Amino acid sequence: MAKKKSKSAKDANLYYPIDSIVQNANVKEYENLYKKSIKDVEGFWAEQANTLDWYKKWDKVLDDSKKPFYKWFKGAKTNIVQNAIDRHLKTWRRNKIAFIWEGEPGDVKVFSYHALNREVTKFANILKSMGVKKRDIVTIYMPQIPELAFAMLACAKIGAAHSVVYGGFSVEALAERIADAQSRVLVTADGGWRRGKVNDLKGIVNEAISRSPTIEACITVKRTGHEVFMENDRDFWYHDLASLPIANSKCETEVMDAEDMLFILYTSGTTGKPKGLVHTHGGYSVYTSTTHRMVFDIKDEDRWWCAADPGWITGHSYIVYAPLINGSTIMMYEGAPNHPYPNRWWQMVEKYGITILYTSPTAIRGLMRFGDQWPKRHDISSLRLLGSVGEPINPEAWKWYHSVIGDNKCPIMDTWWQTETGGFMITPLPITPLKPGSGTKPFFGIEADVVNEEGKTVKPGEEGKLIIKNPWPGMARTVMGDPKRYVDTYWKDYKEQGWYKAGDSARIDKDGYFWIIGRIDDVIKVSGYRLGTAEIESALVSHPQVAEAAAIALPHELKGNAIHAYVILKAGLVGDAALDKSLRDHVGHEMGPIAKPESITFVDSLPKTRSGKIMRRVLKARAQGLPEGDLSTIEE
Ligand code: WT7
Repeated sequence: MAKKKSKSAKDANLYYPIDSIVQNANVKEYENLYKKSIKDVEGFWAEQANTLDWYKKWDKVLDDSKKPFYKWFKGAKTNIVQNAIDRHLKTWRRNKIAFIWEGEPGDVKVFSYHALNREVTKFANILKSMGVKKRDIVTIYMPQIPELAFAMLACAKIGAAHSVVYGGFSVEALAERIADAQSRVLVTADGGWRRGKVNDLKGIVNEAISRSPTIEACITVKRTGHEVFMENDRDFWYHDLASLPIANSKCETEVMDAEDMLFILYTSGTTGKPKGLVHTHGGYSVYTSTTHRMVFDIKDEDRWWCAADPGWITGHSYIVYAPLINGSTIMMYEGAPNHPYPNRWWQMVEKYGITILYTSPTAIRGLMRFGDQWPKRHDISSLRLLGSVGEPINPEAWKWYHSVIGDNKCPIMDTWWQTETGGFMITPLPITPLKPGSGTKPFFGIEADVVNEEGKTVKPGEEGKLIIKNPWPGMARTVMGDPKRYVDTYWKDYKEQGWYKAGDSARIDKDGYFWIIGRIDDVIKVSGYRLGTAEIESALVSHPQVAEAAAIALPHELKGNAIHAYVILKAGLVGDAALDKSLRDHVGHEMGPIAKPESITFVDSLPKTRSGKIMRRVLKARAQGLPEGDLSTIEE
């Protein structure tokens, strides 16, 4: 009746959470708490840190004396394993399930927190027996099996850092990461199951080790039992080592400084080699566990499934560390979502009573394509919250996920973050009214904005650069071995203001909701996986018949983006279908299947600036039949 909408009137364009979600939410309020957290950022994080165990508490929450090399919880002593495992053993949670794991062929393993501790301790002793010491970096290249998590935690327990290389990467990508980390020890498996076939990890490892002089020992977990080559004095079966007396279940957790390195994780950037981002024990523990607990409303009854790969930051933060710190029961699945049939995920949701599912838009689109009948075959009513990460989710996929998977009762947490940020940055809470495709608003303690080149906030609805104005405990501390690159990549553009540049373009609407548009640098997101054009191009150029190459991303219905490559062949050579295939296979062999170009176009020249930089935006515009924009810098 009233003409003016009352303040409590609901906006028909928003998706509101159902009452039971709001009533039981861990966090029941956003605006005031957010304001408070921004006013006293250190106070907010100290309060969160106080919910964890520490061997010794901090002298100072934030040390910003060497910006942008921030330090968090200075003077504190901890180890992430102290909170992820050790403290649970003193409570009833020692009997709680930590991991439910299902292999692709259908084999199942379940580990309580007690069993997890036993396995991690055993692995830690084995690493020690291989000479791994505090501060060494162990490279881990594994399928999604429990031993992957055990290996990561074992490294952390003895104070070594891990560098997990995604199992979908191949020879050159692996060798390059081993060399950068100077790893002496490598942990792998004889393979993993993917769509009924064995992914030959050990074969790739053997080839990579032949390019990696630093590797002295390689520990191989037997997963598939297919034949692999093992070299004397270098290769050891995990099960052989595990049967030795050294592999007992006694090992102290190493006391670490809060700022000691926990892991490095390589991610693609604008130029050259992938960079190894450094994360630490203290701040990362606090940041990941807080975001996980508040955003996904974690309760002891939950069964949490983050269907990512542990080889990416999503898996590090939200399959392994945060859920363990929060004492959750974690679901882990080895294989493909549609193997043997497209109901595989929904079957597991039903079988294990999963309550929260966190996945990527590309997986949602892929499963949506098979139709509603597959999820409809199963009782998936145990689900109460859903999540999305990796790239913008198109409203069509969002609505399908919300109605068909979530039965219109599960809010979708569309979390924007990066390898660099360690955890969620822009994200709804379960109580937030949602708009399909928007990550909504910044998390507590995070001041985000969208600005122009000069650093001025753009008008509502206008596109600009996404920046973060203040430090947070989960932030990467540096690029390993290259602090200058860390400063140049993230902190140079808004040096005066001291802001972090995310590398994404975005909009903020009139309600203050953030909309991520995509990368502004030469990073391509294929199926949510982050790849650098530079890496794909150098893989192409390493082919004996290629002189020059350029890679661009074009929109793709399922993958979000697909790679298209332009190739100049060496003088006198002519491109044909056979060479096209051989080039694509070559990229697959060097980088991994995800990096294979969708198509290759043979050309005689590439548009370049006078300084010789390939103008990828011109190639992209041409491929899409769009205006080519400012060509004044192009070389004739
Ligand atoms: C880039 C970071 C964070 C874990 C997985 C990706 C894109 C990530 C979203 C989202 C829109 C997103 C951004 C970002 N991205 N999440 N919810 N909505 N875009 O980590 O491999 O370091 O990639 O992924 O472009 O910069 P990453």
